[in-house]
Amino acid sequence: RRGFLVGGGAVAGGATVALAGAALGADPGRPATPPEDAVGRATVPFRGLHQAGVRTPPQAAATLVAVDLAEGTGPADLARLLRVWTEDAERLTAGAPALGDTEPELAAVPANLTVTVGLGPGAFDRIGMAGRRPDWLAPLPAFGIDRLEQRWSGGDLVAQVCADDALTVAHAVRTLLKQARPFGSLRWVQHGFRNSAGSLPGGFTQRNLMGQVDGTVQPVDGAEDDLVWIGDDGPGWLRGGTGMVVRRIAMHLDTWDELDRPAKERVIGRRLATGAPLTGSEEQHPADLTAVGPDGLPVIDPASHIGRAAPLDRRERMLRRPYHYDVPPPPGQLSDSGQVFISFQADVRTQFVPVQQRLAEVDLLNRWTTPIGSAVFAVLPGSLRESTWGRCSWRA
Ligand code: HEM
Repeated sequence: RRGFLVGGGAVAGGATVALAGAALGADPGRPATPPEDAVGRATVPFRGLHQAGVRTPPQAAATLVAVDLAEGTGPADLARLLRVWTEDAERLTAGAPALGDTEPELAAVPANLTVTVGLGPGAFDRIGMAGRRPDWLAPLPAFGIDRLEQRWSGGDLVAQVCADDALTVAHAVRTLLKQARPFGSLRWVQHGFRNSAGSLPGGFTQRNLMGQVDGTVQPVDGAEDDLVWIGDDGPGWLRGGTGMVVRRIAMHLDTWDELDRPAKERVIGRRLATGAPLTGSEEQHPADLTAVGPDGLPVIDPASHIGRAAPLDRRERMLRRPYHYDVPPPPGQLSDSGQVFISFQADVRTQFVPVQQRLAEVDLLNRWTTPIGSAVFAVLPGSLRESTWGRCSWRA
């Protein structure tokens, strides 16, 4: 009984793990690990130049948690928390229980788990190192379409936890949050989902809750890495990291339903059935925004979502990795659904902001979507070999 009462300490927790492991081993009827070929068994490497969970093909389930650091938190405290998070994430993503894991059996299903960690603008003020904050790491400018709610906005620290199993995500999130308890408080939690692993062929672009193929135009892996990862022009401690924008965007599905298909296709500029641009027949065909139809009108409406979002130059391209949300609606409403829009880009100010500004000025889609949350984070570089997130030289 004592083993279950002690939660945090590594020694006491370690004893709990050993006991639980022994109990598992004693019951051959309930194997601790999924079969070799199961999705549950799959892992994404934790160590690398970059953190996993950015370029990783999006897993089925995601939970994002934002934490506010407690008053009096110093650089060494933050480094300690990040060190513990590194250790936990490395173990959990490999399918091993965290140190002091109170539910070690849940760790036996890594299911492509990734943990991606970033710092928000306020973290630097909180630890007394405002001078180290990169200029772009600031709340986004206010956009005319925003109806932001504090409960979905801001945060000193973020952990994006994704896996192909929602139970795995829940366990990892709880483990990380228990570690964070002495250092701060939970600001917001956002759950998101996509198609289950195996539902769609590999590499197939998913659909969002409006039924659109969403995620077609992305920076090319390898050839356009400079658009995603912070390079030599960024601060040394962030090289290999990236800028992360999280926007909670409500979808007004009840009125969206009232549109016929041609109208829905005009709003986006792409076909619903295939995701092809209105000027092409296949999803990957480049959209021709200059094409004019027999009636003399542009084939893709310049006010359509892709007409406005298309980059004016390559420096505006970003990696979009959105998740859907669909939560119980308030009384009298049929749904409360939308997108946890997540984008990764080397420079939020020159990539995300101009595109969002254009969309805020004109975008046919705006009638059916409303941004209700907004946050920006600097995703730390990956941890190589023994290194931990907390050893980044932002402390030096
Ligand atoms: C493209 C949906 C919000 C930036 C698209 C496409 C869809 C879509 C269906 C076409 C297929 C594709 O390339 O993925 C949505 C929905 C949104 C939303 C439903 C909100 C609920 C945003 C936001 C931004 C954005 C907030 C950035 C500020 C883009 C970009 C493209 C795009 C850059 C590619 C444009 C191109 O070059 O063709 N979006 N989007 N979207 N979206 Fe969004």
